[in-house]
Amino acid sequence: MTNLLDLSRIESGTLRPQREWHDLPTLVEEVLKRLEPLTAQHRLVVDLPADLPPLFVDPVAIGQILTNLIENAVKYTPAGSEILIRATPQEGEVQIEVADRGPGLPPAALGRVFERFYRVEGPGPRPRGTGLGLAVAKGLVEAHGGRIWAENRPEGGARFVFTLPLAAAVEVAPSAEAHP
Ligand SMILES: Nc1ncnc2c1ncn2[C@@H]1O[C@H](COP(=O)(O)OP(=O)(O)O)[C@@H](O)[C@H]1O
Ligand SMILES: [Mg+2]
Repeated sequence: MTNLLDLSRIESGTLRPQREWHDLPTLVEEVLKRLEPLTAQHRLVVDLPADLPPLFVDPVAIGQILTNLIENAVKYTPAGSEILIRATPQEGEVQIEVADRGPGLPPAALGRVFERFYRVEGPGPRPRGTGLGLAVAKGLVEAHGGRIWAENRPEGGARFVFTLPLAAAVEVAPSAEAHP
């Protein structure tokens, strides 16, 4: 789901998440299994607390968000470096991060990488891409009532964080759930 039509539909709200109850560890496990060929050259560290509450989410969308972030972590960082996938329960939400040990982002790019087609310019050749992966991730996160942002890690590397509201914080208006 990385084409412009899908992105437009996510942003306009016509592609609504099909939410059900899911355990995050199961969703993460499925994504990592599917991405095994891609991540084989990196060291994956998965840190998911045992007491995470179930999430009311669209499993395909969460899979897509994680996939886009992990694909980037693989693509923009050296082979052999570590990629951390961590979830932290917070007040009313769960924070999920994909953090790497690559070059990080120029400060000016931190707020812009979620724009469609935005790609960081570099002196040398860069990995192929469309510049849509993070825009799609942002659209899907926001369709779940969450937020997403990018940071540089003090010790080096980039960190992409998104939040998903816990059930009590999710608005489940009957009209909003109905599909025309
Ligand atoms: N983990 C990362 N480390 C460094 N730069 C990144 C990382 N993830 C994304 N970027 C930068 O953000 C840009 C936008 O990412 P994305 O929307 O996924 O598009 P694409 O990967 O197709 O270029 C990338 O082109 C890259 O410049
Ligand atoms: Mg990408």
